[in-house]
Amino acid sequence: MSEQLIIFDTTLRDGEQSPGASMTRDEKLRIARQLERLKVDVIEAGFAASSNGDFEAVKAIADVIKDSTICSLARANDRDIARAAEALKGANRARIHTFIATSELHMEKKLRMSREQVLEQARQAVRFARNLCADIEFSPEDGYRSDPDFLCRVLEAVIEEGATTLNIPDTVGYAIPELYGNFIRTLRERVPNSDKAIWSVHCHNDLGMAVANSLAGVKIGGARQIECTINGLGERAGNCSLEEVVMAVRTRRDHFGLDVRVDATQIVPASRMVAQTTGFVVQPNKAVVGANAFAHASGIHQDGVLKARDTYEIMRAEDVGWSANKIVLGKLSGRNAFKQRLTDLGVELDSEAEVNAAFLRFKDLADRKSEIFDEDILALVSDEESDQKVEHYRLLALSQHSEMGERPHASIAFAAGDVEHHAEADGNGPVDASIKAIESRLSTGAELMLYSVNAITSGSTESQGEVTVRLQLGGRIVNGVGADPDIVVASAKAYLAALNKLHSKAERVAAQG
Ligand code: KIV
Ligand code: ZN
Repeated sequence: MSEQLIIFDTTLRDGEQSPGASMTRDEKLRIARQLERLKVDVIEAGFAASSNGDFEAVKAIADVIKDSTICSLARANDRDIARAAEALKGANRARIHTFIATSELHMEKKLRMSREQVLEQARQAVRFARNLCADIEFSPEDGYRSDPDFLCRVLEAVIEEGATTLNIPDTVGYAIPELYGNFIRTLRERVPNSDKAIWSVHCHNDLGMAVANSLAGVKIGGARQIECTINGLGERAGNCSLEEVVMAVRTRRDHFGLDVRVDATQIVPASRMVAQTTGFVVQPNKAVVGANAFAHASGIHQDGVLKARDTYEIMRAEDVGWSANKIVLGKLSGRNAFKQRLTDLGVELDSEAEVNAAFLRFKDLADRKSEIFDEDILALVSDEESDQKVEHYRLLALSQHSEMGERPHASIAFAAGDVEHHAEADGNGPVDASIKAIESRLSTGAELMLYSVNAITSGSTESQGEVTVRLQLGGRIVNGVGADPDIVVASAKAYLAALNKLHSKAERVAAQG
């Protein structure tokens, strides 16, 4: 029987640290449900001590998700660890992941602690955590840039205290595959009690090698857990991408000889959900989940694939969850068919009232758009979930006029709490006019950092436009996403969605790495 490789997903923790990717409790819960369908072994649901919002998100996920281990990050102190344990109370299987930096640079400049102090704090943190939870992961932050002698002492000590997983982060993405693999192997060889714990890799992508480094950590170093995120989401250049490592280990089983529990057919739906929720769109040529990942444009390739698909394809699109854009529902579809489609897509709405509201939206969309695809339904449901929260800013009506040679004009009505605003403005284009109209009433001072439009279903001008708006205000960066067949309406929705995020000011303690 071959060994198993544990897939530890940290989209909801390390991925969420990406500026603008912060998610609400409900958004996290929805993604956690998809991660459970994907059958990841461990879901790092957040950093419970960092904010009340994160605590609530970890708790909600621990209470609901039963098929994956639920983990919370905690700095190496009693308060953080107790808070993580509290949030994880309802979990079937809980894990506390505690960390402290061990590189000279971090200890001296950031922590201002000596080696001995760090060693003692790591030891005490794991001892304290072990009394609250049986499954303890320890990470020496900036581990790859740490002195191996000191690192071995720390790792030996935390295993003695009961750590069950040792995770070696390449926090700044500095590693090279062969060197990182050898580093893990050396640590495993030199730590006397290394066989008492599972070794894990956690690589950042600053040099574009997070996946390669993680795989080297497994193959050369003997690690049996990989930490990764959907779409490689994460701060700076991101984390190791789940879809890429999973498919590498699956496709090259001849080389790795390891099993992964993941249901690969759920990869593309997970990728879409994360992109749609965070507004971090997937580049078309991204491996496995990019729109072009399985497209054969050149005549030679097309010819080859038609004769025998393995001439140019090493994986099958359907095995990772790509399905041809199927028309799934139309204007005459009834409520039961709609409800069934939601179930097939794994969407669980909390009440019949929510199903009814989503169905009304669907009917409205079907009146304006002749063919409705799965992607449309997912966008519609995510809009519905936002509406259930009774957001502060809500779009009520929008009209705009544009004509070649004329300056476009927009009139907009929107609610801010209980107040209804009506505004008009001119702009360079209709989108610009609409946003200027909103700002003429609110004067938020927010800086627009990103505006992007994507077709939800590719290949047709009938597609809904999905707009992402990234705003910065007072050091906070947020993304708002809006979808509509009319991209001006989608833009106004996205802008108001971003303002709603700025409006809900969650205080957060930044996690490291
Ligand atoms: O990159 C890193 O060092 C981290 C740790 C907190 C595990 O994310
Ligand atoms: Zn990290």
